[in-house]
Amino acid sequence: MDASSKPVAARLLEWYDSHARALPWRSPPGAPPGDPYRVWLSEVMLQQTTVAAVKSYFAAFTRRWPTVADLAAAPDEEVMAAWAGLGYYARARNLLACAREVAGRGGRFPDTEEGLRALPGLGAYTAAAVAAIAFDRRAVVIDANVERVVARLFAIAEPLPAGRGAIRAAADAITPQARAGDFAQAMMDLGATVCTARAPRCLLCPLARDCEGRRAGEPEALPVKAPKKAKPQRRGRAFWIERGDAVWLVRRPARGMLGGMRALPDDGWSARGDGAGTPPLAGPWDAVGRVAHGFTHFGLELHMAVYLGDEFFTLAATDGEWWPLERLDEAGLPTLFAKAAQLALAATGEDA
Ligand code: ADE
Repeated sequence: MDASSKPVAARLLEWYDSHARALPWRSPPGAPPGDPYRVWLSEVMLQQTTVAAVKSYFAAFTRRWPTVADLAAAPDEEVMAAWAGLGYYARARNLLACAREVAGRGGRFPDTEEGLRALPGLGAYTAAAVAAIAFDRRAVVIDANVERVVARLFAIAEPLPAGRGAIRAAADAITPQARAGDFAQAMMDLGATVCTARAPRCLLCPLARDCEGRRAGEPEALPVKAPKKAKPQRRGRAFWIERGDAVWLVRRPARGMLGGMRALPDDGWSARGDGAGTPPLAGPWDAVGRVAHGFTHFGLELHMAVYLGDEFFTLAATDGEWWPLERLDEAGLPTLFAKAAQLALAATGEDA
């Protein structure tokens, strides 16, 4: 295609002016950038998580903590519990660390990509996205949607991840000086709504005439991805210990899988591969089934064991608490343990 950047960026921005998705953290096309706190919060939430899933969390966080100083002052446990269900809990820990750092600087985010990159938890993508969207800085913003659009537009067939260098160079070549935030979000929206992974809607695409992938006849084949290795599978046990109208919940260690989150006690599957640790009580345990969960680097089959006896004295040694069953949905259990709890409740005859 024509290597000059203007026509592509201009056509895309024109499309964005009438087709931008209205999203709660977003300024309308052409409007001045919005509050950096809201832009940053949304971008951290949107990593690895869909727009649809993020909306309710974004609303809850900004209602409860309207400024970065409010978030910085929140107790860790409250933020971790509010994050429950979004996954990738290291993001929530970094979110707090970053909020505290920014609050310590008087509540102002750095306004350059480089300055943002130095904050806790801001990788190359987030720093570029916040620089462009919150500060209108020219930055090359590449997420999975943008990667797909660019690979098709320039027919970059080198498999990922090796092809990322060529994709970045091509994205850089079409990124305009002006309206950098709108351009980045226009690329994301085009990828999400038109240049979709399967069955792209090329007839609706403002860049169809520029698109080498379309010209070559099979845009949906791009980007090419190196074959994925099969994920290892682990097996573990989690323990449901009920007394009266309460269940024993623990706080996971700050570091490691689901770090800092409230959880059911388990046998150490996260640290050891297959869990081989001892149960928190001798038992007897009833096996009531299992839940399957996919983590980034392994799949887990978590077998649920239920204890309905009345010997609890050994529990005192662990960091935990009796949590009322009727308030279980306020415990902030991550999805894995929320699923496990549903299974146990169904098995013990409580409502599921
Ligand atoms: N995905 C990540 N950030 C986004 C944004 N600002 N708009 C739309 N989709 C996104």
